[in-house]
Amino acid sequence: MADSTKLWGGRFSEDADETFAAFNRSIHFDKKLFRHDVLASIAHCNGLQSAGLLSEGEADQIRSALSSMIDADVEKLIAQQSGLPEDVHSLIESNLIAMIGDVGRKAHTGRSRNDQVATAFRLWMKDAVDDSIGRAIKFMEGLTECAEVNIDVVIPGYTHLQKAQPILFSHWCLAYFEMLRRDLERLSHVRRQVNVMPLGSGALAGSGFPIDRQSVAEELGFESITRNSLDGVSDRDFTLDFAGAASILMMHLSRFAEDLIIYSSDEFGFVELGDRISTGSSLMPQKKNPDAMELLRGKSARVFGGNISLLTLMKGLPLAYNKDMQEDKEAVFDIVETVKSSLDIAAVIICNISLNRRRCSDSMGTGFMNATDLADYMVGKGLPFRSAHEIVGAMVSKSIELNCRLEELPLEVVKSFSSLIEDDFRKRISLERVLASKVVIGGTSRDRVASELADAKTFLATCNA
Ligand code: ARG
Repeated sequence: MADSTKLWGGRFSEDADETFAAFNRSIHFDKKLFRHDVLASIAHCNGLQSAGLLSEGEADQIRSALSSMIDADVEKLIAQQSGLPEDVHSLIESNLIAMIGDVGRKAHTGRSRNDQVATAFRLWMKDAVDDSIGRAIKFMEGLTECAEVNIDVVIPGYTHLQKAQPILFSHWCLAYFEMLRRDLERLSHVRRQVNVMPLGSGALAGSGFPIDRQSVAEELGFESITRNSLDGVSDRDFTLDFAGAASILMMHLSRFAEDLIIYSSDEFGFVELGDRISTGSSLMPQKKNPDAMELLRGKSARVFGGNISLLTLMKGLPLAYNKDMQEDKEAVFDIVETVKSSLDIAAVIICNISLNRRRCSDSMGTGFMNATDLADYMVGKGLPFRSAHEIVGAMVSKSIELNCRLEELPLEVVKSFSSLIEDDFRKRISLERVLASKVVIGGTSRDRVASELADAKTFLATCNA
């Protein structure tokens, strides 16, 4: 008896080698597309009816059978088949035929699995992108809350991981907020790229029946339809758009994790990790390890790997559909799952850290982080910046020699470097003034950060509206 789960076979006299059949099969992963493929099949059925290819009665039967499948337990459905289906499309069609008999054999009229899979995948991706956007917003909320609680805490800012200039910790939080804001823009772009319907492209040349693709697209909530059938079935740019956006997002999360790993080490000690996001050592009783952050940093590798897999997968394919493209799903599914869990853990992390204010303030005592401000002070007295830079550099050397801070240098020593410097320089390079001077848009002064924080909250409110 012919295998009822198979969509093809008329021209074959031998069954597929079992090893090949297993190799060819994608049901174990593309079953994820079940619901979206059923929805697309219902819309296609409506298109066939409108084009006069199905009578109302036939379309009703197909529609109601498909509708009754939507929430089916897919595992159960697979188990009920006479053999393992090749893919999710075979599963749905053979189940439909099992339910309503020969009428079900009409459901695939005017389409191919090539446009079918591209359509179901895009429908699934739309939901996945929306889900990622929602999770990114949750993390961004956490960043604003953390910024608010710690608005006044000062930490060293670094370049080359060397102390550079003091910054507000809230400014650090909002730096990640900005990265995520751009990630949201990228995800919205992906959303637009995904939102195009390939159904009607047929196998490659366009459907042989006059289906009103536009109204099928409207029914499925697609914004537009593909304009070239060859491209329609072989385009996987939308997966690459997502993988690209996801890679950048994961790179941001990885840097976020890395900063916290560094800041929570005893050498820095600015950040205390909550017990809820830390682990101990099986051997060393004193240890508290930043596993959550390390895993978050590590997860980015998987997403970058998926991105490269997809690019490599596509780069040598002749038009139009090739079975290689079946390999796109697992990469995308893994990227989606990884982004989802990474954004969730990032949101948990940001709510489970606290600042060690004493260590933060102690860190201000070293590193000459007000040296630039001393140069700026001299610029205020009329000196060209380059000359001021050189003088302050020499003053830093002197301070190292005398083992003191710049503001602790005796006035006569200071005067020996430049007669322009008055005793008021000490106040000008105090931590308070150093921070307060960074009022420029994007700067780390308290007022500026507070207004950026307000802006960030307004942005989130519009996202959630
Ligand atoms: N499982 C296949 C995939 O994911 C569906 C399309 C099959 N098309 C074909 N011509 N064999 O790509």
